[in-house]
Amino acid sequence: MAEASSSFSLSSWLVPLLFLCSVFPFTSPSTITIPLSLSTQQYPSSDPLKILNHLSSLSLSRAHHIKFPYTNFSVIEIPLFSRSYGGYSMSLSFGTPPQTVKFVMDTGSSLVWFPCTSRYLCNGCNFPNTNLTKIPKFIPKLSSSSKLVGCQNPKCAWIFGSNVQSNCQGCDPSNQNCTEGCPPYIIQYGLGSTAGLLLLESLDFPNKTVADFLVGCSIISTRQPEGIAGFGRSPESLPLQLKLKKFSYCLVSRRFDDTQVSGDLILDMGSDSGDAKTPGLRYTPFAKNPTGSNRAFKEYYYVMLRKILVGDHHVKVPYNISVPQSDGNGGTIVDSGSTFTFMEGPVFELVAKAFEKKMANSTIATEVQNQTGLRPCFNISGEKSVAVPELIFQFKGGAKMQLPLANYFAFVDFGVICLTLISDNAAAPGGGGGRSGPAIILGSFQQQNFHIEYDLENERFGFKQHSCS
Ligand SMILES: *[C@@H]1O[C@H](CO)[C@@H](O)[C@H](O)[C@H]1NC(C)=O
Ligand SMILES: *[C@@H]1O[C@H](CO)[C@@H](O)[C@H](O)[C@H]1NC(C)=O
Ligand SMILES: *[C@@H]1O[C@H](CO)[C@@H](O)[C@H](O)[C@H]1NC(C)=O
Ligand SMILES: *[C@@H]1O[C@H](CO)[C@@H](O)[C@H](O)[C@H]1NC(C)=O
Ligand SMILES: *[C@@H]1O[C@H](CO)[C@@H](O)[C@H](O)[C@H]1NC(C)=O
Ligand SMILES: *[C@@H]1O[C@H](CO)[C@@H](O)[C@H](O)[C@H]1NC(C)=O
Ligand SMILES: *[C@@H]1O[C@H](CO)[C@@H](O)[C@H](O)[C@H]1NC(C)=O
Ligand SMILES: *[C@@H]1O[C@H](CO)[C@@H](O)[C@H](O)[C@H]1NC(C)=O
Repeated sequence: MAEASSSFSLSSWLVPLLFLCSVFPFTSPSTITIPLSLSTQQYPSSDPLKILNHLSSLSLSRAHHIKFPYTNFSVIEIPLFSRSYGGYSMSLSFGTPPQTVKFVMDTGSSLVWFPCTSRYLCNGCNFPNTNLTKIPKFIPKLSSSSKLVGCQNPKCAWIFGSNVQSNCQGCDPSNQNCTEGCPPYIIQYGLGSTAGLLLLESLDFPNKTVADFLVGCSIISTRQPEGIAGFGRSPESLPLQLKLKKFSYCLVSRRFDDTQVSGDLILDMGSDSGDAKTPGLRYTPFAKNPTGSNRAFKEYYYVMLRKILVGDHHVKVPYNISVPQSDGNGGTIVDSGSTFTFMEGPVFELVAKAFEKKMANSTIATEVQNQTGLRPCFNISGEKSVAVPELIFQFKGGAKMQLPLANYFAFVDFGVICLTLISDNAAAPGGGGGRSGPAIILGSFQQQNFHIEYDLENERFGFKQHSCS
């Protein structure tokens, strides 16, 4: 019987993973509101120049609106570049006149923030091919449209929720003219973090200007190579602020890390498209977000992964892992800010064992497994060709995502290939510990060369294989 498999030789097109071993995921952000006592630049809102700037920028955008009534183009295309630190990067222009800053596109968090002011500090930010002194920074004082967000502004409450009143303590509750600022934000990502002040700025696209976009002016970060453009489900995210009907992206192969090759990010604020599907795409409905107390779980895009097919071996995803539970545990999310797909122990073990069994004739490279945390790894240097089983993710409704080989195996050492899925106890089966949050995180490495669509209007996730470069 013909077993579903792909063969490749050593000269194949798999990506070398030399830099990716040190990759960090941008997962599990949670917003904590701790006031910062950093004395950084202030932009007093009582400054008459500031008020004039405010008025002029309001007028400018109003004028723009009146002068170019037919130029509110409904689809915007932005190039997306792959980066050796693991993420995909895009440029956006903020301010008047516009300043262009780079952002990691992240569907796993919601705030859009940039490295801000000439005094921006970043700890642990020495990434390959990234020189901190060259990270483009946004300089608010060079923009006439920069405004600090007041504590009574409803957009402050997007970040701080109902706590916002207690954060306006310097204000008499009956005083509607309180000039106190929205408190500083601090956001924790998987490994990094960032902190700063919220601004309202104009976001500038070639044929469209969005006034008063809420954006974070980060003054200090750890382990953040660039700003982050949050594409999550909270009101402060880029898709929600722009009221997008849908957005889609195509992530170029990791072979093009740090080069000028890009895929597209498409923001669609188009007219009502009803429930028309994009031709060629397969869809699965987004699953309901858990209602639990953790705010981060409300930002994620949940899908229901039902089965993982390794060749002809079917790994059924247990119900309590496939479907997010009310406490916020379990479920699968799609995350452009994570690199390798994460699977909780029980599922990962089944998948890893299936690969070990299907590839039993290749030598397991234990040492490389120990060094990289990836598993299984095979030393195929003596082999002319290797049969690798197909890997297919099957979602609710039957939509199947069949991964190209380069999306699940990579060379990590001469002649050694490893499965590019991770688990928190990958190196020590049976370990683990307290589980929390999504059980499976579909990372960007597995999404390369797919056209991926987030149809927000119809609450569904679509994809098709597509060469992105
Ligand atoms: C374009 O802008 C006008 C005026 O703001 C608005 O009425 C119209 O609905 C917009 N068209 C689209 C396609 O967004
Ligand atoms: C980073 O860039 C600065 C300014 O161009 C240069 O002085 C410094 O040597 C560079 N650092 C690294 C690690 O390349
Ligand atoms: C707030 O501002 C308005 C208009 O500028 C003014 O009429 C009002 O008296 C102010 N209220 C307070 C409590 O200062
Ligand atoms: C902007 O609009 C002009 C004409 O109005 C059009 O030719 C051009 O392609 C548009 N640019 C983008 C990037 O959409
Ligand atoms: C799922 O159920 C199994 C057994 O029924 C249990 O061992 C496991 O901890 C559960 N996992 C979750 C996500 O609750
Ligand atoms: C391993 O090699 C043997 C002999 O060539 C072959 O019969 C067998 O099918 C192979 N097993 C796998 C899992 O590829
Ligand atoms: C890999 O790690 C395991 C468990 O820590 C250990 O038993 C084994 O000897 C290591 N193998 C190599 C080749 O380093
Ligand atoms: C892979 O196996 C070859 C022998 O076939 C050996 O020379 C080489 O060192 C092995 N590579 C690793 C990384 O273990």
